[in-house]
Amino acid sequence: MNDASLEVHGAHVYDATGAISEPIYLSATYRHPGFRQSTGYDYGRCANPTRAVLEKTLALLEGGGRAWGVASGMAAINLVFLLLAPGDHVVLGTDLYGGTVRLANEVYHRYGIETSYVDTSCINEVEAAMRPETKLVFIETPSNPMMRVSDIQAIAKLAHAHGALLAVDNTFLSPHFQKPLTLGADIVLHSGTKYLCGHNDVIAGFLVVREAEGDLAARIDRLVVSSGPMLSSMDAWLMLRSLKTLGVRVERQAQNALAIAKWLKAQPRVTKVYYPGLPEHPGYALQQAQATGCGGMVSFKVESAALAQAVLGRLSLISFAESLGGVETLLTYPIVQTHAEMPAELKEATGLDDTLLRLSVGIEDAADLIDDLDRALNA
Ligand SMILES: Cc1ncc(COP(=O)(O)O)c(C=O)c1O
Repeated sequence: MNDASLEVHGAHVYDATGAISEPIYLSATYRHPGFRQSTGYDYGRCANPTRAVLEKTLALLEGGGRAWGVASGMAAINLVFLLLAPGDHVVLGTDLYGGTVRLANEVYHRYGIETSYVDTSCINEVEAAMRPETKLVFIETPSNPMMRVSDIQAIAKLAHAHGALLAVDNTFLSPHFQKPLTLGADIVLHSGTKYLCGHNDVIAGFLVVREAEGDLAARIDRLVVSSGPMLSSMDAWLMLRSLKTLGVRVERQAQNALAIAKWLKAQPRVTKVYYPGLPEHPGYALQQAQATGCGGMVSFKVESAALAQAVLGRLSLISFAESLGGVETLLTYPIVQTHAEMPAELKEATGLDDTLLRLSVGIEDAADLIDDLDRALNA
């Protein structure tokens, strides 16, 4: 089945009532038919029928064999780090979501996990950072917020040659545009709060792996059941509803993003535009090769920090707010919001400064969005 149909129908199976919308099972526990017998559902922390349909749908969309729905993107990232043991080393991209950096530096560092941050759009840098004890390479592509494109296939090969796993945070593109498992990644994770939800009304996260029955799936299963981060059934149902419109939303967002990126490029007060759908972007060819679209995120720099801050206060249709992926356009100031806790040396290494703004483009009319940006920039 093609993506457009999969997104609408997912793993939905019509029950005896013929319900088109997935039923919500709120039961925390389940009656056993008899001794050592189970309906497949025993206790809600371990499995829930509504969540199970959502997880199967995510696995189908990502081209994987098994998925877990959890309470936030950070819960998903935490599960990836829980696979590690003291003494292990992780190679991470330099511009990742700030919360990932905080988790690695503040939490897992205390448990003896070593980290190296490199520009993962440069394969030589990834190679140079690998150590015998490297167990995980963790990337976002395009990166957040500098929109650098990393070669998933090449990094997967490199990671595997060193006995490490490759985890890809696929939040920015969603499986509609990019399927890292099909390019060799071992784990895909999402902040489901963003494009998968699309309406800024659910906090959710997902992990997906290639094989349903493999060792990795079994290890994650044990971690999920042992640590209890799962998504509630009500939120699982909302996510199922959201996924039905994933394709139409992200296609429209990408169309709007390209129009805005082109307009920004022509603005004299804009000094730099970062969008992998612009042919002059250094990752353009790779993006075309490994994804079917460029997404709805556009970062740009303006001539001064004072102008960046003034723009935030002059917006009308667009909201100055943290987050991304929803149908409403948001403008974020990464240095004080999403990436506030990123160490100064990493900000410097990536070029993340106080003139940088990050747009999450919604599905509004592109001309209205450009009018709003024009007023805010050129007032
Ligand atoms: C790329 C990316 N990954 C992970 C997260 C964390 O997700 P959540 O806020 O759902 O915990 C975010 C949050 O902004 C994000 O932007």
